[in-house]
Amino acid sequence: MAAATLPLLEGTRINLRRLRVDDVPALFAQFSDPKVMRYWSRTPLMRVDDAREMFDELDRGVDAGEFLQWAIARRTDDKMIGTCALFSQNAAHRRAEIGFALASAHWGHGYAQEAVQLVIAQAFDVLDFHRIEADVDPRNAGSVRLLERLGFKHEGLLRERWQVGGEISDSAIYGLLAREYPSTSNAAMDRCAHDVRTIESGDAGNFPGHDEIPK
Ligand SMILES: CC(C)(COP(=O)(O)OP(=O)(O)OC[C@H]1O[C@@H](n2cnc3c(N)ncnc32)[C@H](O)[C@@H]1OP(=O)(O)O)[C@@H](O)C(=O)NCCC(=O)NCCS
Repeated sequence: MAAATLPLLEGTRINLRRLRVDDVPALFAQFSDPKVMRYWSRTPLMRVDDAREMFDELDRGVDAGEFLQWAIARRTDDKMIGTCALFSQNAAHRRAEIGFALASAHWGHGYAQEAVQLVIAQAFDVLDFHRIEADVDPRNAGSVRLLERLGFKHEGLLRERWQVGGEISDSAIYGLLAREYPSTSNAAMDRCAHDVRTIESGDAGNFPGHDEIPK
């Protein structure tokens, strides 16, 4: 099968690019870190081989057009410092879910905000989505701050929706509508260029609906 295309999204300090096999050690470091995984939808990875399997699964999913999965890479050295994804796309209803994570060494610098802004711009300006949603543990203060700073509205609580490592947790559902995006993004954009350059054009609007994949 011909590889589906994934656009390169260029920010001021970070780029969003396709994951590469040489990112596997960084994937392992990120997804084995209990701080990063505290509110994630699975338990921390235990072995580098788990990260290699995760890479293969994500790579296949991108090729199959099931979701858009980026590495967050520093512009200075192209080193992967996080991940960001658009998944559960529903073309008929023009919506998708967003997921993001940063290696904990890079928290507190606005890199995740810059990444999420790039993905929002791609989703609304290029893919013509109507709505982006996020499913967050209500105790996940860093994620909640990020989403609210970018204009996502808290829309409700789904009780006891996840069971991870024996712990049951709720989902706080956040949503951002295309018509809300220009004003919220302008407010936050002063720190982040959303110079999105599509180097390969994809047909991401035609993804099949996809409900539960790794964030
Ligand atoms: C969620 C997560 C990505 C947030 O990381 P983060 O670095 O705090 O997020 P941001 O990129 O928005 O950075 C904001 C922080 O950087 C600071 N900052 C510094 N320079 C900044 C800049 N140039 N622009 C924006 N913020 C900046 C902000 O003041 C803010 O600090 P605060 O949290 O103390 O208020 C991170 O906590 C994480 O990876 N968590 C684990 C994975 C996870 O739970 N993901 C969500 C699942 S849906």
